[in-house]
Amino acid sequence: TQRVAILISGGGSNMVSLVNAMTSDHPARPVLVLSNDPEAGGLAKARALNVPTFAVDHRPFGKDRAAFEAALQDALMLAKPDIICLAGFMRILTPDFTRHWAGRMLNIHPSLLPKYKGLHTHQRAIDAGDKIHGCSVHEVTAELDGGPILGQARIAIQSDDTPETLAAKLLPLEHQLYPAVLHRYVTGDRRMVTLGA
Ligand code: GAR
Repeated sequence: TQRVAILISGGGSNMVSLVNAMTSDHPARPVLVLSNDPEAGGLAKARALNVPTFAVDHRPFGKDRAAFEAALQDALMLAKPDIICLAGFMRILTPDFTRHWAGRMLNIHPSLLPKYKGLHTHQRAIDAGDKIHGCSVHEVTAELDGGPILGQARIAIQSDDTPETLAAKLLPLEHQLYPAVLHRYVTGDRRMVTLGA
């Protein structure tokens, strides 16, 4: 079975959906949940699911991303993951880090990539007058939110939607999409997963 490390920064609802999907018959299992925020709510959720956790607080490293990432790598080397899933991990990773894990690292992003890389994706979709919004799971490369897309889920935008209502509508689809893509990915199946409207 493939060993999966999940990197989080916040509540970790996508992490929970990934862990819950990795049942005993699944070709992968969670070996570590790693956070850059020692206070992240997802850490307690991971512990409740019996997944080992670790935090590398990014703040003492200041602008030194290389040193922060060296500490991440130390934690990862102990857990020996085959695959890394970024799940609401809100630190930008350097090309050195993404190169090291090339072909072995996935991310979920709350937009229909290649639209709206970066932050504030729901607001930007509303501002653009989009009728359709969604989320994407992609392979991580050096280009932020720019790697090959492996799956997407779509929702309709209504005229009264706000960034908050869109986020709330999209999250349950994220929770379906990410485990579905991970399952295909660990079995070497690179066909796109498509969900929703
Ligand atoms: C999710 O909506 C995820 O798509 C987004 O953060 C949220 C994390 O929620 N990720 C990004 O914005 C990545 N740049 P969670 O902690 O409950 O999974």
